[in-house]
Amino acid sequence: MVSQGRTQVGIIGAGPAGLLLARLLKLHGVESVILEQRDRAYVEGRVRAGVLEQGTASLLEEAGVADRLKREGLVHDGIEIVVRDRSFRIDFRDLTDKTVVVYGQTEVTKDLIAARLGGDGPIVWNAANVTIHDIDSARPRLTYRCDGQEHELTCDFIAGCDGFHGVSRQSIPANALRHFERVYPFGWLGILADVPPCSHELIYAKHARGFALASMRSPTRSRYYIQCSLYEDLDEWPDALVWEELKRRLGSEAAARMTTGPAIEKSIAPLRSFVAAPMRHGRLFLAGDAAHIVPPTGAKGLNLAASDVYYLCRALTAFYGDKRTDLLDRYSETALARVWKAERFSWWMTTMLHKLHDETSFEAQMQLAELDYLASSRAAQTALAENYVGLPY
Ligand code: APR
Ligand code: PHB
Repeated sequence: MVSQGRTQVGIIGAGPAGLLLARLLKLHGVESVILEQRDRAYVEGRVRAGVLEQGTASLLEEAGVADRLKREGLVHDGIEIVVRDRSFRIDFRDLTDKTVVVYGQTEVTKDLIAARLGGDGPIVWNAANVTIHDIDSARPRLTYRCDGQEHELTCDFIAGCDGFHGVSRQSIPANALRHFERVYPFGWLGILADVPPCSHELIYAKHARGFALASMRSPTRSRYYIQCSLYEDLDEWPDALVWEELKRRLGSEAAARMTTGPAIEKSIAPLRSFVAAPMRHGRLFLAGDAAHIVPPTGAKGLNLAASDVYYLCRALTAFYGDKRTDLLDRYSETALARVWKAERFSWWMTTMLHKLHDETSFEAQMQLAELDYLASSRAAQTALAENYVGLPY
């Protein structure tokens, strides 16, 4: 016996993209059901970065989930860049009259789940074997298994918000999709520690030994990264060695201010640039990591999920409100225009700041010249700043 259900928009994935889309649709009178393969504790337990562009913060405010963000978010007016122990600052507020907010993605997810469960609609946790059917018809379907029962959900549209490893992108015929990818030959070793950050803003460092980043989650919780080989063994990176390497790469000023302590989380992540196009096939629309991945250097992942959701919600509400299909037809083109610019910025920040070449190579000199120009040019700093705070939607 298969349990039958019906909704307007079936959403796969309770990450930031799926949750924010569901919330915004609800505020526009459009019903949805979210199917999530994991349980709530797992989803709320994922430690993820959160540097929110002003556009993302505004969208969360429009969604009515920004109260805690406004209380606890850390507004940052700029970032510091350190090259060979020389530092300079990119002043976002002076250059763009905009800022960013540091507020963990984990917290964004918790705020959105609370709103969803506060009466907006269901999240089906532990939805196994979600399968997409009939996306070339006007009545697409989702089937899944939950609590030992098979379920079928018929809907008008399906939003694939199931991340890079989800089922949505794979449900589009291979000959209908193009992939663009760059896998970087290094990883980031990240640590989380309950110590005060070494600076009130983020520090991006290029060093002969490799890239390093000083970030934070709160005034009492720090997040640091060092570029490392993809084949590193975490057991060969005791906390003391990580702190020592961070001090070397971030420079003497940051080192002097750095508080060390036991890592409460330590992991290595690969870096990738990836885009799948188009972001739509029939009644299936991809949003967020399901369609694209950026290296974390530009802090764009969550922000791209937000702008995809903005465009998709606008298109769906125009369909239900005015029977318009033009915005649905233009969704992929519109979303990809912003995605590709963020992919470029993330690739540029990554290739400029990481150890990629032998120090005596021409390419290494080009990196240093790029950074020297950035240190000395208001125009170059403005270009970085307007991409970092977020290009317009
Ligand atoms: N069925 C149901 N749910 C699924 C499936 C599936 N087959 N596959 C994945 N999911 C769920 C995952 O468990 C996860 O909760 O979809 C959700 C996808 O969430 P994210 O991976 O966070 O993707 P997205 O919502 O696009 O947010 C992008 O998250 O990964 C970070 O750096 C990324 O900041 C960016 C943001
Ligand atoms: C983080 O705080 O985890 C973070 C911040 C900025 C980045 C990447 C990660 O560019």
